[in-house]
Amino acid sequence: MKEIVSSGYSVWIGDSSLSKLDLSSYSKIAILVDQNTKRDCLCKLPKIDNSVIIEVKSGEDKKTISTCNFIWKKLTEYQFDRNSLLINLGGGVIGDMGGFCASTYKRGINFIQIPTTLLAMVDASIGGKLGVDFKDLKNQIGVFNNPKSIFIYPEFLETLPENELKSGFAEVVKHALIADKALWSKITSLPFENLDWKEIITTSIDIKNNIVISDPLEKGERKKLNFGHTYGHAIESFYLKKGTPILHGEAVFIGLILETELSNLSLDDKLEIKNYILSNFSLPHPPKKSELLPFLANDKKNKDGKISFSLLNQIGECSADHLFSSDEL
Ligand SMILES: NC(=O)c1ccc[n+]([C@@H]2O[C@H](COP(=O)([O-])OP(=O)(O)OC[C@H]3O[C@@H](n4cnc5c(N)ncnc54)[C@H](O)[C@@H]3O)[C@@H](O)[C@H]2O)c1
Repeated sequence: MKEIVSSGYSVWIGDSSLSKLDLSSYSKIAILVDQNTKRDCLCKLPKIDNSVIIEVKSGEDKKTISTCNFIWKKLTEYQFDRNSLLINLGGGVIGDMGGFCASTYKRGINFIQIPTTLLAMVDASIGGKLGVDFKDLKNQIGVFNNPKSIFIYPEFLETLPENELKSGFAEVVKHALIADKALWSKITSLPFENLDWKEIITTSIDIKNNIVISDPLEKGERKKLNFGHTYGHAIESFYLKKGTPILHGEAVFIGLILETELSNLSLDDKLEIKNYILSNFSLPHPPKKSELLPFLANDKKNKDGKISFSLLNQIGECSADHLFSSDEL
């Protein structure tokens, strides 16, 4: 198994044996699943003696305090003490919400992340951001806290629906564009179906891990991870408000194209990025800029009435805090 060392914990990539984990020291263990990861992923884990399953319904609309109430209630009913462990087996929703529940139950119990979507493997599980949505606001309530360890088992992707796999891939493309030209060359030289997932996931995690270790609380370096996401979040919110939600990665892919356009890159590089994305991924219709401005105006990163972007300096290099007025877009 490959190990990537993060802030006080390790990311183990390769198999699902959990052999690096000493489970005998825990008084009780629960595995948090949704109905899909219970059906498709639980059977790929070794049997864990004396563990209980806590099942919640899947979906972003279940990433709420009310689902947390249910999880805390179950932990309380099962008499989990401070020496218990919560294993989060699922995508970013399960990881963010389970990590938040574990971090707050009895002022914090250990948890491990076993991400089962590509997005959760390369992005959500890394970096310690945990939480839930609140009153239509994404990730409004939460904490920064790290798991005891993360186990990445690429075989989970075999049952992931293709649209979810491609959506998660937007974050791999982003990581390549902001930090690793060699990864960009690798992913663009092979058909999507022929990619070596273990290798791609490992490189992608390495990129995110190095960035978050250097700036855990998003004061500087970590802002680079916002490339594609300023427009991406506006597009996601636009479609959500319209009543026809799209996947996060679909919005990010369009955001990557629009923010590549704003970047100070050669025309050839801009065309290479745009052509790669458009020829490999079918994306929703991009809203007009005028339709996105109200959402961009609400972006958390805005400064002095201007919209702040992280943009590419070249393929494989990015810098943050590029300010644009709405007229300049
Ligand atoms: N903490 C962070 O830094 C961070 C970063 C990015 C995104 N996120 C969060 O991640 C969430 C999105 O995560 P996601 O895209 O993984 O969505 P998700 O957790 O909703 O999973 C997507 C769907 O796939 C199903 N599924 C998961 N694994 C499966 C598998 N192996 N086989 C079959 N079905 C499977 C799930 O049940 C769900 O229906 C959002 O809430 C977002 O805010 C967090």
